[in-house]
Amino acid sequence: SGPDTMSPTGQATGAAQARMAQSGAYLTDAQGTRLYDTDHSLKAGPRGPVLLQDHHLREKVMHFDHERIPERVVHARGAAAHGVFKSYGTASAVTKAAFLAPGAETPVFVRFSTVLGSRGSADTVRDTRGFATKFYTEEGVFDLVGNNMPVFFIQDAIKFPDIIHAGKPHPDREIPQAQSAHDTFWDFVTLHTEATHHTLWNMSDRGIPRSYRMMEGFGVHTFRLVAADGSTTLVKFHWKPKLGVHSLVWEEAQLAGGVDPDFHRRDLADAIEAGAYPQWELGIQTFPDTPEQTFEGIDLLDATNLVPEELARVQPIGLLTLDRNPSNYFAETEQVAFHVGHLVPGVDITDDPLLAGRLFSYLDTQITRLAGPNFSQIPINRPHAPVNDMLRDGFHQDAVHRGVAPYRPNSLDGGCPFLASPENGAYVETPVRVPEATKVREAPESFSDHFSQPRRFWLSMSEVEREHIIGAYTFELGKCYEQAVKERALQVLANIDTQLCARVAEGLGLPAPEATVPPVDVEPSPALSQVGRSWPT
Ligand code: HEM
Repeated sequence: SGPDTMSPTGQATGAAQARMAQSGAYLTDAQGTRLYDTDHSLKAGPRGPVLLQDHHLREKVMHFDHERIPERVVHARGAAAHGVFKSYGTASAVTKAAFLAPGAETPVFVRFSTVLGSRGSADTVRDTRGFATKFYTEEGVFDLVGNNMPVFFIQDAIKFPDIIHAGKPHPDREIPQAQSAHDTFWDFVTLHTEATHHTLWNMSDRGIPRSYRMMEGFGVHTFRLVAADGSTTLVKFHWKPKLGVHSLVWEEAQLAGGVDPDFHRRDLADAIEAGAYPQWELGIQTFPDTPEQTFEGIDLLDATNLVPEELARVQPIGLLTLDRNPSNYFAETEQVAFHVGHLVPGVDITDDPLLAGRLFSYLDTQITRLAGPNFSQIPINRPHAPVNDMLRDGFHQDAVHRGVAPYRPNSLDGGCPFLASPENGAYVETPVRVPEATKVREAPESFSDHFSQPRRFWLSMSEVEREHIIGAYTFELGKCYEQAVKERALQVLANIDTQLCARVAEGLGLPAPEATVPPVDVEPSPALSQVGRSWPT
């Protein structure tokens, strides 16, 4: 037996509804006893001492004292909305996933976020944005936990605590609270040059989006889709906004951050309330599932790489519409728990070492953040597919399980739940061959080119976008105290492009170093530029 069900629109039904707070006409305490006064403590006379026997006072203050839960260790500040995903059916040839079948409609919950700021920080800071989508499919929950940039800072999840420690505010003064302008961030990204590509995206206009409604989204990693006949295809997921990709300019971002720190949160909620429902097309780039897992010389397991759209077209597979605001921020936006391991039949993972660490990290952090292992029973996290697991007990257990034998097979409970096969919907891992190998702690040689993809990005920018990038590096590095960090950053820029390095060096009043890595000959990718693209795609 599983937790209570939700209706397709996400509304609680049956017993779940009865359990919801504020269902009766009278104000009560937490035990349902009606109250005659909630404004005065029980005292020995109107001016006398407050009595310890005032149960209502103690319960009310006790509950208030525990209202806050830990914020997310990253992506703490977010805004979310409900919606629907309609499949075009165009992915059916490469995946058996039911939510991607022709005409399938799936309820979704999408949470956008900044990465580094705390829950109370401003929306318009220069940062990456999270773009996490929970699909409540009939085959279970599928979470696509992506960002608004297609590449990531690091190639191996073991460095994630390090990059986040470097990016969060300095431990002594807790500043800056929500942007990258500080020494530890620049120290890390210049000592770990695999971070060069993502950092360049952050310094571009993509780091200061105009609106959550006007951002692309990316699954970043390469995933493996599995078709009904068992054939497999490697893919990268893309969200393309119908409104196009638009950014603020830096002065606007700073002004908006000061005048209205809730700028993006307000924009999303207001648009939905006004009926201007934001829409995105989901698309996939597809690559043959070869043993090498490379495409045109690009290592598909390296999350610091993207595959230019000119080399692999993004094929639209469905339409996302966000049409309903959350009714309670805490219950929905704060308590939602995404996890890259929430997969459905037809969608599988690859050996990307960054993805491997994420598969561990999300569940682990949610045990602390949501106080125990039962967070999938919180209404916003409940699958819309029937749940019949053998998980029992634990903090915040909400289900009243039936029977005496939560194991299988058993001979006591009058028949166990069935085991499924692939034909009736079981999730079966793709039998991918693991090459014979020696256990090592090292990166492959194919992860060692840290500059040609950033160079492609730089060469793909229009003049105005380049000016913005130069301005962003100059401003952010100008905030660093350590001369050595600025000089190392200029060395990284020299390895991307001489002109970029020279202009930033000029702005900082420092000499421009020579490149230490010979510049690679790369073709620009016009699709990377925000200028000159026509939307909707
Ligand atoms: C949260 C994206 C890498 C650990 C998030 C969220 C997003 C995201 C969108 C916010 C989810 C929400 O709205 O609730 C990404 C992307 C990555 C990446 C696109 C790289 C491609 C990593 C890595 C780790 C990690 C490598 C750890 C090894 C976390 C944790 C949270 C989080 C702990 C907080 C989750 C929670 O409290 O519910 N990430 N992330 N992420 N991420 Fe990542």
